Amino acid sequence: MIDNNLDFDIALYPYELVTYGETGQVCQNWMQYRLIRKYLEVMTDEQTLVVMSGHPLGLFHSHKMAPRCIISNGLMVGMYDNQKDFNRAAAIGVANYGQMTAGGWMYIGPQGIVHGTFNTLLNAGRLKLGIPEDGNLAGRLFISAGLGGMSGAQGKAAEIAGAASIIAEVDDSRIETRYTQGWVSHRTSDLAEAVKIAQEHQASKQPCAVAYHGNIVDLLEYVYNNNIHVDLLSDQTSCHVPYDGGYCPQGLTFEERTRMLDEDPEQFAKLVDKTLQHHYELVCKLHDKGTYFFDYGNAFLKAVYDTGVKSICKNGENDLDGFIFPSYVEDILGPCLFDYGYGPFRWCCLSRNPEDLDKTDAAAAEYIKAHNRRYQDFDNYVWCRDAKKNKLVVGTQCRILYQDAMGRMNIALKFNEMVRNGEIGPVMLGRDHHDTGGTDSPFRETSNIKDGSNIMAEMATQCYAGNAARGMSLIALHNGGGVGIGKSINGGFGMVCDGSERVDQILRQAMLWDVMGGVARRSWARNENAMSTVREWNDTQAENGFMITEPFIADEEMIKSLL
Ligand SMILES: NC(=O)c1ccc[n+]([C@@H]2O[C@H](COP(=O)([O-])OP(=O)(O)OC[C@H]3O[C@@H](n4cnc5c(N)ncnc54)[C@H](O)[C@@H]3O)[C@@H](O)[C@H]2O)c1
Repeated sequence: MIDNNLDFDIALYPYELVTYGETGQVCQNWMQYRLIRKYLEVMTDEQTLVVMSGHPLGLFHSHKMAPRCIISNGLMVGMYDNQKDFNRAAAIGVANYGQMTAGGWMYIGPQGIVHGTFNTLLNAGRLKLGIPEDGNLAGRLFISAGLGGMSGAQGKAAEIAGAASIIAEVDDSRIETRYTQGWVSHRTSDLAEAVKIAQEHQASKQPCAVAYHGNIVDLLEYVYNNNIHVDLLSDQTSCHVPYDGGYCPQGLTFEERTRMLDEDPEQFAKLVDKTLQHHYELVCKLHDKGTYFFDYGNAFLKAVYDTGVKSICKNGENDLDGFIFPSYVEDILGPCLFDYGYGPFRWCCLSRNPEDLDKTDAAAAEYIKAHNRRYQDFDNYVWCRDAKKNKLVVGTQCRILYQDAMGRMNIALKFNEMVRNGEIGPVMLGRDHHDTGGTDSPFRETSNIKDGSNIMAEMATQCYAGNAARGMSLIALHNGGGVGIGKSINGGFGMVCDGSERVDQILRQAMLWDVMGGVARRSWARNENAMSTVREWNDTQAENGFMITEPFIADEEMIKSLL
């Protein structure tokens, strides 16, 4: 998995050990990498490798049911938990920015986010555009920015969801990669042409993904000035690190931006601020014309706020009550998926044999078909059924599939049985940290948690500890992730299915904990869909040892009269 993260087809800057998200590293330097590799080669199944911010502390005696590898990245003592102190710690070689699955060695290329984006766009259409449960986004226009590591998934996801889309990207080399891979269908640096292609596809209700080579702010100015209706609008530039090159100011080419970043970072930061503010103005103007804008987890709203724009805050003062535009989790992914436990389960066929992936896809689709309960299951079935046709694999033969707790456990057990029977080679299970229970991040994953606990990092920490206690093969806990240092704590896991009974036992316990810990916390925060999921769970899973604390909503009038 560590080499998959650094594969030239997958990694953003493989020579710098950066997998994605501009700065998300597998470890800090090649000496660490070589030591980690050495330890992995010689370790026994009674040892655990400990990795702290990329530094392999060594092999420690443990036992067969213990994790083989425990990773942490960038965890800082509260007083120092800020970007400035992190930069200093990174410069002296003691802190690594692991992003999520970069430092957690579970990245599977932009496919990882295609499914989430597909789900987000479809459900945004259902919630805001009146798309029926069995419908898609045919005839609708989606605009966004970024065709990098993760953002590169946007065009493809929009196409699978049936939409016409235009994605702005300043770096032509990124466009070249996505075009060659077939993840965008058209490319142009002419604004009028980009819009014309999209409108033709809207008219014929055919999907398309147009890469516009240029700045998102130029594109938004054009559509606003020409009165072009945008149904869905988002952004996936690397706004979690806007001043480190993540966000390109208007008026600079990609090459000029790179030079200025090196030669005059202060002037660069000023231009970033100016463009972010103008970007925000255009979003507001389009919103007033009926566009649905959502922050797609790249800290765009926070970056605008950090330039000094207070009007972006719900309370007009500070970010404590969130922002006037929703994060995609707050409005869409949280209530429609995470609150039920649906999240980004994924697997990698370690044989690298495409036939193994076909067999696992078929097994997963069969399971979903037999357990089709909600519209989310229908979406997941369609996704899995068409996954091969959509050519989503980059690097090792991996798949992502949103599933709830039971779905994840049962599909995992099925894969382990298939390994046991010799039908397929070993499979590494995992997930994105961006999940129901894996991440505490008030502007993203936990943005639909409204009981005040969204500033706590205990869910992600408990999730990580619980996965370790139940014996997942690899567990990781990080600071930062997709939103920046001090803004999230996130964790993930890896689990090798070797066909053994030992693995069955771990899967039965850990897969359910990994998801239901998150649903339980969401339920305690009084999220309706999480409450009903927990109620059903308590009714059906008591004999399997579950007893989750449920909230009972007090009568408002009674409380008022008591006060
Ligand atoms: N929502 C999620 O699930 C999720 C998942 C992963 C990453 N993210 C976040 O999304 C962001 C993007 O991630 P990534 O891995 O694609 O990063 P990336 O740095 O690889 O890609 C961002 C792209 O945006 C382009 N860009 C920057 N400024 C631009 C501008 N003004 N106009 C047009 N293009 C511009 C860059 O050239 C780059 O190619 C990050 O902040 C990341 O943390 C969100």
